Amino acid sequence: MKRRIGILTSGGDCPGLNATIRGVAKACYQLMGDELEIVGIVDGYHGLIHGEYHEMKPSDFSGILTLGGTILGTSRTPYKQMQVVGEDNIDKVANMKANYKKMKLDCLLTLGGNGTHKTANLLSQEGLNVIGLPKTIDNDIWGTDFTFGFHTAVDIGTEVLDRIHTTASSHKRVMVVEIMGNKVGWLTLYTGIAGGADIIIIPEIPYDIEAVAKAVERRSKKGKGFSVIAVAEGAMDKEEAKLKKKERTRLRAQTGVTTATARIAKELADLTGHDTRVVLPGHILRGGSPSAYDRVLATQFGVYAAKLVEQQRYGVTVALAGNTVTCNLLSDVAGKAKPVPTDATLIKVGRNMGISFGD
Ligand code: F6P
Repeated sequence: MKRRIGILTSGGDCPGLNATIRGVAKACYQLMGDELEIVGIVDGYHGLIHGEYHEMKPSDFSGILTLGGTILGTSRTPYKQMQVVGEDNIDKVANMKANYKKMKLDCLLTLGGNGTHKTANLLSQEGLNVIGLPKTIDNDIWGTDFTFGFHTAVDIGTEVLDRIHTTASSHKRVMVVEIMGNKVGWLTLYTGIAGGADIIIIPEIPYDIEAVAKAVERRSKKGKGFSVIAVAEGAMDKEEAKLKKKERTRLRAQTGVTTATARIAKELADLTGHDTRVVLPGHILRGGSPSAYDRVLATQFGVYAAKLVEQQRYGVTVALAGNTVTCNLLSDVAGKAKPVPTDATLIKVGRNMGISFGD
């Protein structure tokens, strides 16, 4: 039976997107042979909305296992905007449905994070055959233990902390390292533990700057003149945690210090007198080749997705539960978050080691 599948990658990129695309494609060719046609949709949902796509051939999927980024391109098309007809007068959902038909697709594979999954679910409810694959360095997709991209980012973040340690200790400085994760702290937690951070600050545990300062001073008293602090991009203090995001952003803008990392560094310098620096690895955490772990995970996910295509099981997204690759309903995943539980094993491990979580 002839089968035509579309693939798109949407939202922020991460290492492992190409490895997953390769896994899906190679396994689909194995399962469906010459009967299979793959269409690459350009720049995520943007390509589906605007009808930008191209036919792909088996050789397109060779040599991409180790390649960072995405061969299909990506973009952010916020879910909130999907059902809004903007100034361009384009009905995005209607266009996506029309282009799916025009491309004569039997199903659509969407590789992405939380926003991507919300739109995937919307399209599934609109009658399209959709299969999701969970990517993000943030590891915040509900129902999967890990997303691909996460472990590579942990490795990169760990390398950052390792390098920061030597310069921090030479200069006896407090280094405040901002790790991506605007809503959740998984990446900061894993990076902080792996990189031996002294203090780990995540959005799920609002911090108290006095407690952070005390942790730095405790180290000083023990003769450790330096401290390495891993701070999640979305961190907030206990007072800010009581506010809505908009209000928090407005108040920060008033002070002129807009990020938690910059605030923590400034307030710590004031409170402790220690020389402090801010370090921003930023998008470096999302760049380059996937780690071995992510190559394996991406390949497993890709092969599982190919089986779903073969079995015509749609409206689901691939997931990892323990050591087993499985899938969840898109309707169960869409709109749900996966914050770090405050009693997570790794947090307990950190506390037992004397790591401060700033609370
Ligand atoms: O969603 C993943 C993420 O890495 C967040 O942690 C971060 O806030 C965001 O992407 C930054 O994305 P952009 O590429 O739009 O700057």
